[in-house]
Amino acid sequence: MAIGLEEKTSRTANPAQRKFICIPISVFQVNQNSQVDLYLKIEGNQSPVLYRSAAIPISSRDIEELRRNGHRALCVASSDFSRLDRALNESLHEVLANQEIPPAERFAILQTAAAMEMDIAFHMIKCDRIVTMSQRIAKHITSLLNGEHLVPQQLFAVVQHDYYTYTHVINVAGFATLLADLLGFSDPKLKEQITIGALLHDIGKRFIPSSVLCKENKLTEEEWQLIKSHPQRGFEDLCERIDLTQEQLLMVYEHHERFDGKGYPVGLVGEEIHTWARLLAVVDVFDAVTSARPYRKPMSLSQSLNYLESNSGSHFDPEMVQCWVSAMKLT
Ligand SMILES: [Fe+2]
Repeated sequence: MAIGLEEKTSRTANPAQRKFICIPISVFQVNQNSQVDLYLKIEGNQSPVLYRSAAIPISSRDIEELRRNGHRALCVASSDFSRLDRALNESLHEVLANQEIPPAERFAILQTAAAMEMDIAFHMIKCDRIVTMSQRIAKHITSLLNGEHLVPQQLFAVVQHDYYTYTHVINVAGFATLLADLLGFSDPKLKEQITIGALLHDIGKRFIPSSVLCKENKLTEEEWQLIKSHPQRGFEDLCERIDLTQEQLLMVYEHHERFDGKGYPVGLVGEEIHTWARLLAVVDVFDAVTSARPYRKPMSLSQSLNYLESNSGSHFDPEMVQCWVSAMKLT
């Protein structure tokens, strides 16, 4: 993949501008009386079809049957999303502490609950709320994932792959936390810092107009330069904060550097790029290529792993790729 394809495919889609939002099925396990119409994506149909009207609660048996039939998500109309999100946030603490729900599923619920708030925070002028929110979400993520010995595939199986910026950063943060663990990071404080850095990595995109971020046609050279400015803009947004470390700032600044020196903003080579940024680059692209876009299908898991392997040593640090790919292949 040429430099920048990940960026050209990583477009923001504000949930409020979308007709339907896909929600992981686990959310309805804990929110059976969601009081919103639920829709189902059917292969071959362009729009989701009505599955259950708001008046009829979904049961555990329905969820089991959906899972048996290979469904991982239900859809809600974007106009109903804030109602569902409010209900979800009211029960979030209780749900996250519920040991009977597998940690990967609790992660998927957290992702859905946090996405709307993250969206609002990204549109504020000052970055304070995004940072505080990232710190709070990171605590939940690390306590859900650390010490659970989750195979990353379990997390991959339940999270949303219907891409938009806020689900993307939460996926990336979960994957980065697991990859740090696999690489032998054992200090929980450092792992939490990596999770926070991953949540903040694309903060510079909030300075780019959505007409550019969401443009589906070929970007002009000027627009492409604007997109490429987001690591620098993000770094500048965060660099005076005393509650972030230099390593976290380097995750933001260097996550589009490539191992062969052909990345941006500087063109650093190999280990000149900070370890945490090299780690982030792998899971950032992994989530980008496995997520659906309005104009292209996502890569399958095996295609995405082949893609990472074929770019090992050029785009990515080979050690990071090897570690992620072998963990992802475990069943
Ligand atoms: Fe980025």
